[in-house]
Amino acid sequence: MALTETRITGIAPNVGVPDGLREWLRVVEQMGQLRNISGAAKDPEIGEVADLLQHEAQSPVALFDKVLGHSPNFRVVVNTLGHTDRVALTLGLPLGLGKVALSEAWRQKIKGLEFIPPRYVKDGPVMENVVRGDAIDMTIFPTPKWHPLDVGPYIGTGSFDVTRDPDEGWINLGTYRVMLYDRNTLGYYISPGKHGRMHRQKYFERGERCPVAMVFGGDPLHFMASSIEIPYGVSEYEWAGAVRGAPVEVIEGPVTGLPIPANAEIVVEGFASVEDMRPEGPFGEWTGYYGSGSRKEPVLKVEALYYRNDPILVGVPPAQPPDEISRYRAVLRSALLRDELDRFGIPDVAGVWQHEVGGTRLFTVVSIKQRYPGHARQVLHLASQSRSAAYVGRYTVVVDEDIDPADLEEVMWAVCTRSDPATSIDIVNRAWSSPLDPIIPPERKDIGDYTSSRALIDACRPWEWRDKFPPVNVPPREVREEARRRWAHLLD
Ligand SMILES: Cc1cc2nc3c(=O)[nH]c(=O)nc-3n(C[C@H](O)[C@H](O)[C@H](O)COP(=O)(O)O)c2cc1C
Repeated sequence: MALTETRITGIAPNVGVPDGLREWLRVVEQMGQLRNISGAAKDPEIGEVADLLQHEAQSPVALFDKVLGHSPNFRVVVNTLGHTDRVALTLGLPLGLGKVALSEAWRQKIKGLEFIPPRYVKDGPVMENVVRGDAIDMTIFPTPKWHPLDVGPYIGTGSFDVTRDPDEGWINLGTYRVMLYDRNTLGYYISPGKHGRMHRQKYFERGERCPVAMVFGGDPLHFMASSIEIPYGVSEYEWAGAVRGAPVEVIEGPVTGLPIPANAEIVVEGFASVEDMRPEGPFGEWTGYYGSGSRKEPVLKVEALYYRNDPILVGVPPAQPPDEISRYRAVLRSALLRDELDRFGIPDVAGVWQHEVGGTRLFTVVSIKQRYPGHARQVLHLASQSRSAAYVGRYTVVVDEDIDPADLEEVMWAVCTRSDPATSIDIVNRAWSSPLDPIIPPERKDIGDYTSSRALIDACRPWEWRDKFPPVNVPPREVREEARRRWAHLLD
């Protein structure tokens, strides 16, 4: 089968945060970062392209139409956030920044943000097609099987679920994978400790069904918000409103009463019940494995389907890192952790990076200017158990301020030379992990023990004799950077 590819080139425009996926794609097209692919097979070609693009840093977006076996105007888009400029665009930040500068620009931007509640509207593009009851058929959307050993097609990867806390009333958006079983049955998996799971559990404990709206293909800013650790009790809608500087427009869902984004591509409403559980998974996960295998999970019975004309399904399949999700989440999560350390009152943090290779969870580095005995250990323990880094952590490293925390080679050189394994590593047992964690043995998963250990590595020069530590034998960073500028032609 021949694929036709249209390449569009253009300039990077200076715009605010685009409103909705379609406007966002128009801007990306002007930036020269959109590739159109017609006539692909959803299996395996769309999954293959997603795998290829998301494992190349700074690669373009691919928009598929005329997917074989589906209505020609039903589209799929992948790798939306796989480039720092598209992350910047989504956050309303300048294009052209490196990832560390972007993370810092983001941290500065969120300091002054005030949450903006969503605005209810009566109608919107998502209601262009309304399907109820027996007419519902979720298989009309070209849903790929993303990874070779996935149990089936997953419609929810670049998606999010909207739920309401039945006690406190606040609305949560969370990205949790969604499997397509049949015309009106969807399976979804939420790890213990996540907000959507807490909401669902509260309904189940009251003996009620849990109302859920699922958004498949929405505004990239909403998706971003739903996939990072925004604190308990804060609605991602309010957070997204703050980032754009305007309220998110929502429609009250006719079936559940939940707020659904008026300009989303595809939305369903339905209910999950403790009585309707089915095997979910295996599905390729962000660790690079099929760690959680298959378990029984509640399913969503779809009672209403809404979609725009020519709908676009957003695919963000997690994969072996570094992948798309680790690239954009490193920018966001590193900023979140740095802010948390500030709030803990930790002085002299020079930088933080939650590394892409660890899926932005398994390998966290903080650099500090050491100020007092015990400073480094304090940073290690707090960073490893903070909200933004605790879940499925593994290694947390603290380095001196002359080490760039985002540069893996520099960090590992510091670990190799400034740490003494017998005295520099603290182990924390039974910390917050997940059924996805590949290192938890099957027999512990079987009894619900989803905890794992943490290694906290102090790779700073030992405080007591730091002044006698052997000097580094290369010129200081500024001197090297100047030399690199002067002698750049030698490396051409
Ligand atoms: C593409 C993608 C898929 C994800 N899939 C899941 C999932 O299936 N289950 C889960 O618990 N978390 C999943 N996550 C992580 C959550 O979205 C993330 O932890 C988020 O903060 C959850 O929202 P909450 O903090 O409101 O619970 C996924 C994230 C991404 C980016």
